[in-house]
Amino acid sequence: MNDAAPESALVAKCRDRSAVVAVLGLGYVGLPLVLRFTDAGFRVIGIDIDPAKVERLQKGESYIRHVPPAAVAAARARGFRATSDFAAAREADALLICVPTPLNKYREPDLSFVIGTVESILPHLRAGQLVCLESTTYPGTTEEELKPRIESTGLEVGRDVFLVYSPEREDPGNPHFETRTIPKLCGGSTPACLEAGKALYGAAIDRVVAVGSTRVAEMAKLLENIHRAVNIGLVNEMKIIADRMGLDIHEVIRAAATKPFGFVPYYPGPGLGGHCIPIDPFYLTWKARELGLSTRFIELAGEVNRNMPEWVVGKIVDALNQRSKAVRGSRILILGIAYKKNVDDMRESPAVALMELLSAKGAAIDYSDPYVPAFPRMREHWFDLKSVPLTAESISGYDCAVLATDHEAFDFALIQRHARLIVDTRGVYLEPSANVVKA
Ligand SMILES: NC(=O)c1ccc[n+]([C@@H]2O[C@H](COP(=O)([O-])OP(=O)(O)OC[C@H]3O[C@@H](n4cnc5c(N)ncnc54)[C@H](O)[C@@H]3O)[C@@H](O)[C@H]2O)c1
Repeated sequence: MNDAAPESALVAKCRDRSAVVAVLGLGYVGLPLVLRFTDAGFRVIGIDIDPAKVERLQKGESYIRHVPPAAVAAARARGFRATSDFAAAREADALLICVPTPLNKYREPDLSFVIGTVESILPHLRAGQLVCLESTTYPGTTEEELKPRIESTGLEVGRDVFLVYSPEREDPGNPHFETRTIPKLCGGSTPACLEAGKALYGAAIDRVVAVGSTRVAEMAKLLENIHRAVNIGLVNEMKIIADRMGLDIHEVIRAAATKPFGFVPYYPGPGLGGHCIPIDPFYLTWKARELGLSTRFIELAGEVNRNMPEWVVGKIVDALNQRSKAVRGSRILILGIAYKKNVDDMRESPAVALMELLSAKGAAIDYSDPYVPAFPRMREHWFDLKSVPLTAESISGYDCAVLATDHEAFDFALIQRHARLIVDTRGVYLEPSANVVKA
């Protein structure tokens, strides 16, 4: 075989969009990528081990609130298909891996999903393919975990197959950015790999930013998330201090944010949620240990952020006590259980920690969330509850309403008119009011 052939043929197919793209892992990251590549004119195959997701996509349905079913149906009409059969990987010119990278119970990286996916595609790899890892992970994963496995098939990375790391930067619910307009970092295992990666992503994403190695791209993604985790930890600590001083942290942040340079506002809440910020920083912590280094900012921010639900519960206890009520026996309504506003994603949601802490103290808990009609089956948490519709009668029936997630769909004025007590963890109620306690 001509040495240059697989690379130049692949680059040409990416540029003229005749390359077939397989997306492995069709969750919050993978599904938007499927739609972007389909919209850009590629034929796309989605591969997922979850048969329920495959079935729904095949029917042209969506299981993610911010992905409209019409977009999935339109992709189906353009030739997109979903399957659980990894043999489909052979048809693809580019394989994009978007599977979970959680922590295990010792808070160490759990790469089992990534490695499981790679091992499932190995029997179907062929010369001329591009493998892209998109899952968030520690620097070195692509070179240390993917490359040797791929080369165990006899195919050489950089000559026969091409390997890049390109982190996903999805921000579900963000009205200002979408997959196409979020610049995409790309680091190659070799220069030929990078060329292939740039050609593929450049055909679907407005701006591709090439970096010097897969490790730089992996570390850059972690820096982005660590930056958020540490700054959220900082404002959460500031919130506790401001509260003790009788100051409203949200008013303080709004004031500081009028400085047009050198200050980035971060907003405190009842804790830290989502699949990324509470988890990803600890990928670096684990890898740094290999070098005998500690990640003190990450650990400290993690500690502050993890303690926030307890602090909020303390504020709820005090507010009820002021009204001569004990938590035990109180009826408490949690407003918003998704981890952030306007989404249906419950992963690592601090609202769940609030529900567990309050029930452990004997409160009767209900919740209302327009995007989560029934409490979902989560790996470690379970409440047999359905979302309570918000009406004057339902709101006034609770001893306390805890505003955990400030979905724009909530009628905040209605809540304020009828709630006996609101504990506001999001700074929604700006004016002091007899029935509002900020937490
Ligand atoms: N959600 C976000 O906003 C976001 C943003 C940036 C980066 N990320 C990163 O992207 C990665 C994926 O996150 P997500 O939010 O899309 O997760 P997700 O849980 O929504 O989706 C992952 C999908 O992968 C599937 N899967 C698991 N093992 C598989 C296998 N062996 N083969 C094929 N499919 C498999 C699951 O069934 C699921 O559908 C993670 O590393 C995450 O850190 C997520």
